[in-house]
Amino acid sequence: MKKRIAVLAGDGIGPEIMKEGLKVLDAVAYRFGHVFEYKEALVGGCAYDKYGHPLPDETKKTCDNADAIYFGAVGGPKWDALPAELTPERGALLPLRALYGLFANLRPAVIFGPLADAASLKSERLKGGLDILIVRELTGGVYFGKNKVKSVTLQEGAVQGDYAVDYMIYSVPEIQRIARVACDAAMKRNRKLTSIDKANVLESSKLWRKVVTEYVQKNYPQIILNHMYVDNAAMQIATNPKQFDVIVTENMFGDILSDLASAITGSIGMLPSASLSASGFGLFEPIHGSAPDIAGQGKANPLAQILSGAMMLKYAFGLGKESNAIEMAIMGVLEDGYRTGDIASANTSKDRILSTSGMGDKVVEYLRKVK
Ligand code: IPM
Ligand code: MG
Repeated sequence: MKKRIAVLAGDGIGPEIMKEGLKVLDAVAYRFGHVFEYKEALVGGCAYDKYGHPLPDETKKTCDNADAIYFGAVGGPKWDALPAELTPERGALLPLRALYGLFANLRPAVIFGPLADAASLKSERLKGGLDILIVRELTGGVYFGKNKVKSVTLQEGAVQGDYAVDYMIYSVPEIQRIARVACDAAMKRNRKLTSIDKANVLESSKLWRKVVTEYVQKNYPQIILNHMYVDNAAMQIATNPKQFDVIVTENMFGDILSDLASAITGSIGMLPSASLSASGFGLFEPIHGSAPDIAGQGKANPLAQILSGAMMLKYAFGLGKESNAIEMAIMGVLEDGYRTGDIASANTSKDRILSTSGMGDKVVEYLRKVK
């Protein structure tokens, strides 16, 4: 199989973890007889520095011509003070999601058995591992409602500039289409779906709850659906995560809860994501950010990037066997005690603590051995 991949490494640790992601994809290509053609393009702060915009036309063109987008991370203190539309987040990442209609964000929170001792929860709460899938709506809600800083109607006496407003907007079709993605996923798993909202306070959440309830009843009566308020859900994820199978939630709640879920799995450096459009086009990125504080030091954990590559193989190219091979290689590496610093514990022997590229090399080595 031949595929064109737009490679957008971004800022901070993006380039160094991307290097490892590509190393592993090359090893997959070699072993399974595929051709992956990479076209690199700048995105985020580095693109702003070169072109004056975090999402330059060149980069969009590269993505237009690709079969999938493989994304690292963007942002850093250097670009925080730019006008909103030029920051890496609001000028590049969110527009990319909107441009390609990437409304369905799949964020698996899985504990790899050998890492149970790195997880922040007591191991009896995680007995038998953990495997949650968070389905986050990615192109709606408060991150995409019109932000009105200037034109808002001010209260009498208030000074222009004292107010900022963000609108959380959801429409029925937007909720239905993410419900469908979550239901499809639940059908392939344990048929248990938890929809998370704040329907006791927010109108958009009331609509969300109503639409999800009707949609599931009508189209997926086999699924056991329950609802949870987001504040309670945060507590439940932190204390009793094994009750969850598939979670579906709106954009901002999903953003927050997926970071929380990653923390209980041991490290935010482990969790990948897939952002998919209705036609199956996708962007694949780790859920963590650009970690500028450790950039360039060879300390970053490349596994979330590598696992995002595995999701790309599975979801964008239908290469399930190849995707599994990457996961099995990683499992082997972890079982044999190899760690990057962020997932090391008191039991890790010093000679098994690997650098960013050391971890990439190890995954490649174990990939060759996967049956
Ligand atoms: C994520 C990130 C982004 C988001 C930021 C960088 C805009 O936190 O992918 O979770 O909030 O979606
Ligand atoms: Mg986030």
